[in-house]
Amino acid sequence: MSTEIRIKKKTVNTILKSYREGKKLTMLTAYDYPTAYVASEADVDMLLVGDSVGMVVLGYENTINVTMEEMKIFTKAVSRGAKRPLIVADMPFLSFNRCVWETLKNAGELIQSGATAVKIEGASASVLENITNLTENGIAVMGHIGFTPQYINTLGGYNIQGKSFEKTLKMLDEAKKLEKAGVFAIVLEMVPQESAKFITENLNIPTIGIGAGKFCSGQVLVVDDLLGRYPNFTPKFAKKYADIQSIMLDSIKKYVSDVENGKFPSENEVFNLTDQEFEKLEKYSNQNS
Ligand code: KIV
Repeated sequence: MSTEIRIKKKTVNTILKSYREGKKLTMLTAYDYPTAYVASEADVDMLLVGDSVGMVVLGYENTINVTMEEMKIFTKAVSRGAKRPLIVADMPFLSFNRCVWETLKNAGELIQSGATAVKIEGASASVLENITNLTENGIAVMGHIGFTPQYINTLGGYNIQGKSFEKTLKMLDEAKKLEKAGVFAIVLEMVPQESAKFITENLNIPTIGIGAGKFCSGQVLVVDDLLGRYPNFTPKFAKKYADIQSIMLDSIKKYVSDVENGKFPSENEVFNLTDQEFEKLEKYSNQNS
């Protein structure tokens, strides 16, 4: 049997089955083919084509400038590399707020680019209405509350959300409204772990935490934080499993030095003429010098 045939793509149903069986869910961002390929080999449950791509790949200051066109390109790349994980694509800033029809069109384009679900930040009345319309039309949606980076200008900065009893209850109310709107899971970002635990225990769908502690149903990290690839900063809640920045710097410095010192390319990295063709070339060269 070929590997291709044995590979089983994860679905919303298999993710929910794992959640009901008490298995911790794993999610990681990915924006390109090689990362998606490796994450798939590592058997990550879900890959998020996050709009964090705007910061960690495109170098924007925040996620607000990310466009639908950019999200479609990255979603296509990830879908080519990820054979097993469920792919969730972020709906970028203002792509899901204007009207029901435009939200449906944008979400549909991300699904046609290879995602199985879309993720939407916030839980205002208009956003909930648009999410309901998506789920009623066959588009799987993941919610995202707590710190929502697309609302950075109204949130006033990278602040922990739900820091009081009242705010925790408000967040649970948002989560329940999202559940009612049909989302299959909810990202909780930068929330005190006690609040995240309380919200998780009061829902019938999984919570995926990022900076929300271990009591969530699963975890998500930005892959560049995990690998130590983003040069600007690593958030407190991220665990750096590698230091790819240093490996890249060392390797590129060695390359520059090798080229400058004539060590690269060596005999190992070149192509040669056959002896016969080389002799002709030498002869020609001697005759014409
Ligand atoms: O865009 C992103 O990477 C995200 C995660 C932080 C959850 O939304």
